[in-house]
Amino acid sequence: MGLEGKVCVMTGATSGIGEVAAEALARQGARLVLIARDEARGEATLARLRAIAPAAAHRVHYADLARIAEMKRVATEIAAAEPRIDLLVNNAGALFTTREVTADGLEKHFAVNHVAYFVITLMLRERLVAAAPARVVSTASGAHYGARLDLDDLQYANGYRGFQAYQRSKLYNVMWTRELARRWAGTGVTVNCFHPGFVATRYGDNAGGLLAFGVRVGKKLVAISPEKGARTLVYLATSPEVAGITGGYFTRCALKTPSETAQNDAAARRLWDETARLAGMG
Ligand SMILES: NC(=O)c1ccc[n+]([C@@H]2O[C@H](COP(=O)([O-])OP(=O)(O)OC[C@H]3O[C@@H](n4cnc5c(N)ncnc54)[C@H](OP(=O)(O)O)[C@@H]3O)[C@@H](O)[C@H]2O)c1
Repeated sequence: MGLEGKVCVMTGATSGIGEVAAEALARQGARLVLIARDEARGEATLARLRAIAPAAAHRVHYADLARIAEMKRVATEIAAAEPRIDLLVNNAGALFTTREVTADGLEKHFAVNHVAYFVITLMLRERLVAAAPARVVSTASGAHYGARLDLDDLQYANGYRGFQAYQRSKLYNVMWTRELARRWAGTGVTVNCFHPGFVATRYGDNAGGLLAFGVRVGKKLVAISPEKGARTLVYLATSPEVAGITGGYFTRCALKTPSETAQNDAAARRLWDETARLAGMG
């Protein structure tokens, strides 16, 4: 879609894949409304967007997406400020070597990488429908292929392993995208997710332990640039080729079959119900 005058809400735009994508979208005429957690990083990104497109009233709202109350507050703030949202990009995510529990009692991958996508998207539904045809694009990962689903232990209380917890959260992204597409069929809002590749961003830098070391070495040796990593995001946000596609998992700007587990519709419905209950949105 042409982006002149379009409103794009985006999380995780202060670094890596999201930052490059936000700049690309601004260059194509979009007005960016960012959700960031750190003021210095938020203002720096905003300054870059303003340098690219000084006439567009880019905005930044602050929230720590590890906390449900913050997800809800920032979504309410944005819904009040933006009557129409043409594009929502759920991209903020992180890796945690050791099990951390948020103020809401949620395992941190579950909260940041999954619940934040869920809460923000659902709370902006009316604004997206008002702009239809509109799009939701979420950053998932090829790491979901190795995930072992355990719906009885969503908070990974048993036998926690950092990378496996990350993989599970990215599996939830794919399952949730498919379920959301089913629920929003006929609204004029499409929802798709993608794998960006292994990308040299700040991903994993603060994860701690051997895992962070391994990711850092891997990034030096084989990772692609954030510019390449952002390509499928920008493609899903803008290309007329995907205008009618919803519920898809993409990589390298093409549809790809996700893992068998990711295609388990009954499990996706159960994940949805549990997430809604935990987020107080049941
Ligand atoms: N890099 C890869 O190889 C790779 C591969 C597959 C998928 N992904 C996914 O790509 C997405 C973007 O990651 P990236 O690689 O670009 O990493 P990154 O450089 O670390 O960027 C992560 C972004 O998420 C934000 N964020 C993290 N936790 C947050 C929180 N609690 N509240 C609000 N914002 C938060 C960060 O904000 P700050 O700037 O404040 O830190 C930053 O803007 C993630 O969903 C990641 O899982 C990455």
